[in-house]
Amino acid sequence: MCGIFGYVTVRDECARIVVDSLRKLEYRGYDSWGVGIGLNGHIRVVKRAGRIPPISPDLPASSIAFGHTRWATHGGVTDANAHPHLDCTGRLAVIHNGIIENFRKLRAELESNGHRFASDTDSEVFAHLVEQVLHAGDDADPDAVVEAVRSAFARVEGLNAFILLHHCTQQLIAVKSISPLVIGAGKGGTYVASDAVALVGLADRVHYLGDDEVAAIRADGLHLYDRADGSERVPRWERLTLQPTDTSLEGFPHYLIKEIHEQPRVLERILREHPPRARELANLITRSYGTFLVGCGTAGYAALAGSYLFSRIARRHVNSVVASEFKYQEHFLTDRSLVIALSQSGETVDVIEAALAAKRRGARVAALVNVTGSTLDRLADFTIPLLAGPELSVLSTKAYTAKLALLLLTAHVINGSEHVGLDLLWRAIDGMVRALTPDSQDRVKAIADRIADHQHCFVIGRGLSYPTALEAALKIKEVSYLHAEGFAGGELKHGVIALVEPGVPCIVFSPLDETRADILSGAMELRSRGGWIIGVSPEHEAVFDAHLPVAEAGDASPLVNVVPAQLLGYYLAVRKGLDPDKPRNLAKSVTVK
Ligand code: G6P
Repeated sequence: MCGIFGYVTVRDECARIVVDSLRKLEYRGYDSWGVGIGLNGHIRVVKRAGRIPPISPDLPASSIAFGHTRWATHGGVTDANAHPHLDCTGRLAVIHNGIIENFRKLRAELESNGHRFASDTDSEVFAHLVEQVLHAGDDADPDAVVEAVRSAFARVEGLNAFILLHHCTQQLIAVKSISPLVIGAGKGGTYVASDAVALVGLADRVHYLGDDEVAAIRADGLHLYDRADGSERVPRWERLTLQPTDTSLEGFPHYLIKEIHEQPRVLERILREHPPRARELANLITRSYGTFLVGCGTAGYAALAGSYLFSRIARRHVNSVVASEFKYQEHFLTDRSLVIALSQSGETVDVIEAALAAKRRGARVAALVNVTGSTLDRLADFTIPLLAGPELSVLSTKAYTAKLALLLLTAHVINGSEHVGLDLLWRAIDGMVRALTPDSQDRVKAIADRIADHQHCFVIGRGLSYPTALEAALKIKEVSYLHAEGFAGGELKHGVIALVEPGVPCIVFSPLDETRADILSGAMELRSRGGWIIGVSPEHEAVFDAHLPVAEAGDASPLVNVVPAQLLGYYLAVRKGLDPDKPRNLAKSVTVK
């Protein structure tokens, strides 16, 4: 979940581009940051706990430099634990993403061999491991350093990505297992990053590093080797299609509000480009014996919504499982099963593990994924890109509604009613546009002002609106730190209602479907105990203390109704003076368990 960026150029670049690029990767972790710069005879390291400062520090120019933004796993958030980490001699430095699972054993061995550690991290182990295998005479031989990295990496357990800066041979060496790294080339330099987003404006072509490869980045470009036997390999260059506008704020104050507003456009792209893919996915589902939707966080709620959609529209039982729990339920997978993995980033380790488990059992893996070239994209048998464009706020919004759109369409294809699915998506677009008008946003802002100082908030929905309630609560709590819990409306009286006190905000999703009478009874039960009821519904009801009107969109209502909740999370965070794009403790790409 850490951000990684490095470059090697023929001329001296300003090392500030490392810091500028790291800013684009901060969504991967923002506990601390650090830069390593290859200078004449030594590596200069600048690293600090905390966010990257708004004004870049003064850094010397150099033809080789790299940097890191951290999401702490091993070792607290301190300057010493920030990356890069040096070996004992200071001739090499390492940045890392992942967890070295056998690091205690390796550290004990290295310490008993006389290595001195300067941090509590698992990452530093790798610097000393390479140092241990690198002989004094190897310092002038670039290939010998690659060999040392290969053999050190062979001793490391876990899912990891490392970049090593070796200043005598003026190269960056990259190696990985599952954790992503992408090499970029263009404009006189070669770059490496944990996400292609950081390469926009610098590289015009990219090579996604494979687990079976080691990359050496030198002034004359990329040298690729086989990780097992060290033989040379030919890179698979692809054109980098991301544009600078994809990563700009385009006048919005934050990525979160920009991305919420992009949702109608994303759905339009899906409508235009994806019906054939939805047909292929429908075909895979109907041919499989047992289909499982898996995802984490917001993607997990999209999976749950999918199981409702397939049930009511396609009359098919499609299971949904939280990806981190999938391995405890995978025993019945066979070569006739289908696992549909949902993920914005395509890097969430629990989702990757679910996909790998499926493959081990001979099952097929389909992926609904936003980041092209991501680990999930590459390991799936069949991928549908979400076409949402880079999602840079840590909160997932447009990737969520994109997944729902594809699942809804696929369910209709299975049912033989594709045109109904397409019509529903047009209705969803219209409903989203209406939910984003200045008037609609003002109504949400007024509610944010009213509830901002509360400690708790409850959110209920039934049927298709149950996953919406869970997702709405997640959006609110992760960005505003207001404790919000989503529940199935029918479960209220089985315990949760004990928490309702006078004045507590309760959000009730009440579309005009078969859940309406029962969910309104639930709202009444909350109100009778003093709950302050916020109805998200096409029609006003007497039980609502406040009403957020939404367009009626039938089975596409989850796509529309989630929008006021996304806005509420955003405006709560803004009102509380919080950063809506980078909530505390979170990271966007969760590549560790
Ligand atoms: C993190 C993010 C969530 C996201 C989840 C799954 O926890 O903070 O916003 O829903 O990971 O991410 P994925 O990239 O797999 O959709």
